[in-house]
Amino acid sequence: MINIAIMGYGVVGSGVAEVCQMNQAIMKQRTGYQIKIKKILDIRDFPDDPFGDRITHNPDDIFSDPDISIVVETIGGTSIAYKLSVQALKAGKHLITSNKELVAAHGPELMALARKKNVNYFFEASVGGGIPIIRPLHKSLAANEIRLIAGILNGTTNYILTRMDEAGITFEQALSEAQSKGYAEQDPTEDLNGSDACRKLAILASITTGQYVDYRKIYSEGITNILSTDLLYAHSLNMKLKLISRFKLLPDHRADMIVAPMLIGRNHPIAAADDVNNAILIEGNALGEAMFYGQGAGKLPTASAVVADIISCAMHLDRVRYLSEWVIPKQEILRDHGECSVQALVRFSNGLSAAQVRQVFDVYGAKPVKAQAQNEHAWLIGIASKLTEQQLASHISSFGEQVLSRIRLY
Ligand code: HSE
Repeated sequence: MINIAIMGYGVVGSGVAEVCQMNQAIMKQRTGYQIKIKKILDIRDFPDDPFGDRITHNPDDIFSDPDISIVVETIGGTSIAYKLSVQALKAGKHLITSNKELVAAHGPELMALARKKNVNYFFEASVGGGIPIIRPLHKSLAANEIRLIAGILNGTTNYILTRMDEAGITFEQALSEAQSKGYAEQDPTEDLNGSDACRKLAILASITTGQYVDYRKIYSEGITNILSTDLLYAHSLNMKLKLISRFKLLPDHRADMIVAPMLIGRNHPIAAADDVNNAILIEGNALGEAMFYGQGAGKLPTASAVVADIISCAMHLDRVRYLSEWVIPKQEILRDHGECSVQALVRFSNGLSAAQVRQVFDVYGAKPVKAQAQNEHAWLIGIASKLTEQQLASHISSFGEQVLSRIRLY
């Protein structure tokens, strides 16, 4: 028998208990062990819960119990979760987490500590919810130089954009639906402003480069300024509007990385991911393209990835399988955002004439969009030659309030 403990009995933590209960026979068949949840750490009590008798408020009940070998951290955040994760590793427990904040902020340190203590530190559920992506990227695609990682890494914003597009409901209505379904974080700010996707992209980029990518340095924009007018243009161009996260390896081995709302062709494979689904397109120099698709958030899909890590850990208790170690790079690997090339849909108010737009943007390629909302005109800019982010930003700021919005094309 293998005893495990769960720290944090919220949506994901209780999902882990549920999957362990539902699939206990399968887990035994796959690992050779019966896997028992011995303790659950939470500040709350759950008297009516089937696992209510395992609740403890004292972390030492877990760390000083020699019978508990695997600890799952589903607390989230970087304060208490960080402290308890360090304690768990120092106590020689294998550690499994769904906590992307923690991996993105303290990954190198926690991985090094795990190695020092000769235990596993697994985090499959930190990116893509139930979609297998961490282990495939680390193992199955190990023969490749990964040139592109692009896709949808946040379920909440994808749900909101899908509902605004298909049901014509407002941003606020769609957000409240996402919260009631348990997709959005309790405080959805970091879903909406792109930070959550940034952290996940940084984790994937760190795995493929073997170097720690600091998510705080990735250029990001969220979806809070998206209007139904933007979706109107998306429709007219046969495109969808998605919050895209993208890592592009450059020939000099630096990378362009961005998280931002982008217009993407309706027939592009990434655009097929609607609702809470995530889609992650990987391009490797031997493999070509592969796409990973599925439920990127939610109780049981996320628990599915956590429990897979428990199984993997149980199968390798005495042969530790470090997933990766990320070195802190000596030189910045991110190219300056201003140097990246860009194409965009730009909406101008009627105060600015088509001739004025042409005068500035013709050199980069500028094409008016046929469908127009009232009192404005929209253009595709940067479609013929290389336009940099810096050039686009400076021309747009020179037009001041005559520019209503700009949305990048994928
Ligand atoms: N809030 C996250 C999302 C949960 O919407 O994708 C999964 O990380």
